[in-house]
Amino acid sequence: MALFRKAKKEYDKALLPKHVAIIMDGNGRWAKKRSLPRIMGHRAGADALRRVSRFAGHMGIEYITVYAFSTENWKRSDEEVSGLMSLLLDYLKNAEKELGGDEVRIRVIGDPARFSDEIQQQIKRVEAVTKDNKAVTVTLALNYGGRDELVHAVKAIAKEVQDGKTDPDSIDEKTVSRHLYTYDMPDPDLVIRTSGELRLSNYLLWQTSYSELYFTDTLWPDFDEKEFTKAIDAYLSRSRRFGGR
Ligand code: FPP
Repeated sequence: MALFRKAKKEYDKALLPKHVAIIMDGNGRWAKKRSLPRIMGHRAGADALRRVSRFAGHMGIEYITVYAFSTENWKRSDEEVSGLMSLLLDYLKNAEKELGGDEVRIRVIGDPARFSDEIQQQIKRVEAVTKDNKAVTVTLALNYGGRDELVHAVKAIAKEVQDGKTDPDSIDEKTVSRHLYTYDMPDPDLVIRTSGELRLSNYLLWQTSYSELYFTDTLWPDFDEKEFTKAIDAYLSRSRRFGGR
């Protein structure tokens, strides 16, 4: 099976964002509009994620990082949380089967300790099976929160100071970046949020300092190759100054 559908437009890879982070919002409203249970919206959202990540990989984007389950999502009803857990397990099992021989590497960031043993094992398996795949790294943020990640990093650095391994005066931005879950990837160039909400919602707070932000009213399950191309075109039309002139 061909992994990526042929992109209609060719882009100069040097100009493309290397890393696109996505807040996949609007699954519930998509389901409501169709008088379906919310979980059907999440199911359609998982399909959209598979489509978009393949397409992005084909386009030449190296990293896609999606907000799949936040530290706040535990507050949803037991029914919705358990529906999301079973979708997540299906997604991870499929990814192991479908992507093992392909070019998609799956990574997880966040604190997996609160997930079932089965999900934690499956995360380890899919990360191991896909670890040498090179075209695109799809990172799932699971039980992830930006503030939680910073607390985790501060604790790790404090421990190194306490153990005499780090001199406090040597701590700089690189030290912090190295202790984040994303230590081995570039910061996102572009953040996409669907469904008309104009917030970052505790997503990659440190890493998005200089990211371009793109908001669309399209609900996540309707976000397809055409919508992704529109976001990339918007990104390419902006000039990035990183605080300079
Ligand atoms: C927001 O929609 C989305 C989520 C809470 C989680 C994203 C989950 C998926 C795309 C599907 C599952 C993904 C994997 C990897 C299995 P919402 O429920 O907040 O939508 P609403 O604001 O319209 O209610």
